[in-house]
Amino acid sequence: MTVHIERLSTGVLGIDRMLAGGIPRGFFVAVVGEPGTGKTVFALHYAWQGIKDNDKVIYVTTEESRESIIKQAKMFNMDLDKAVDEGKAIIIDALLKSQNDEWSLEEVDVEALVNKVIEAKRKLGYGRSRLIIDSMSTFWLDKPAMARKYSYAVKRVLYRWDFTVLMTSQYAITTSSAFGWGLEHVADGIIRFGRKVVGGELKRYILVEKMRQTPHDLRVNYIDIKDGEGLVILGPANFSKEDLALPEDVKRRIRSANKDLGP
Ligand SMILES: Nc1ncnc2c1ncn2[C@@H]1O[C@H](COP(=O)(O)OP(=O)(O)O)[C@@H](O)[C@H]1O
Ligand SMILES: [Mg+2]
Repeated sequence: MTVHIERLSTGVLGIDRMLAGGIPRGFFVAVVGEPGTGKTVFALHYAWQGIKDNDKVIYVTTEESRESIIKQAKMFNMDLDKAVDEGKAIIIDALLKSQNDEWSLEEVDVEALVNKVIEAKRKLGYGRSRLIIDSMSTFWLDKPAMARKYSYAVKRVLYRWDFTVLMTSQYAITTSSAFGWGLEHVADGIIRFGRKVVGGELKRYILVEKMRQTPHDLRVNYIDIKDGEGLVILGPANFSKEDLALPEDVKRRIRSANKDLGP
């Protein structure tokens, strides 16, 4: 049977294609990955597409200031400043608190977050809305065991406000896990960003690990971040054994270091 599903464009054509058109309206999507993999850049595309589609946009930034986000967006020709001035978007700054700033978070906790988001939504008015929380893991940095409970609470409270939500989650570099888990349990979709060094060069990739109600791409796709343009999909990555293996000269150095240590 044909089921019609309204999908929101992510603002990145290649990613929309991986998602059979985009993210289903009302979904909570987790964007997970290590630092520097493109999560924030993707979040900016998603926000900017919302402006273009006449959605209300609420962007919560926890690891960078509002100014930093606006500057980064400008490099990709997204004028978030203007969108804010025109009452189409609100950027909630959870990093810098300022007394005379209505849209900063007093406290980095889940309750304060949810209240501020609802206040922002009331201000922007009715209609299809996009909520971006970058990053969600900030809210349980000192209590990772609460991740699942918090994620669930946020979803339960916010789901009746006509949001389609994108939440990023930082991964600990050392363990490559931990921080994301709570979010992944409640998420309707999971998009993983990753990176690795291939032939002495940093390669970034994305993988749609989950998207309910969607025949999505199952392949790892390389991405690029271009000045003036932003995120683009380069195409499927064929991870070979060679890509994952250590370079020959490194192996040689390890062998000789081991030899020096003796038996
Ligand atoms: N103007 C630009 N031109 C090209 N690449 C950029 C530009 N701005 C940022 N980048 C790339 O994006 C990376 C940051 O990506 P970001 O989305 O902030 O990562 P994270 O996953 O930590 O949120 C930088 O390390 C850089 O490689
Ligand atoms: Mg980021």
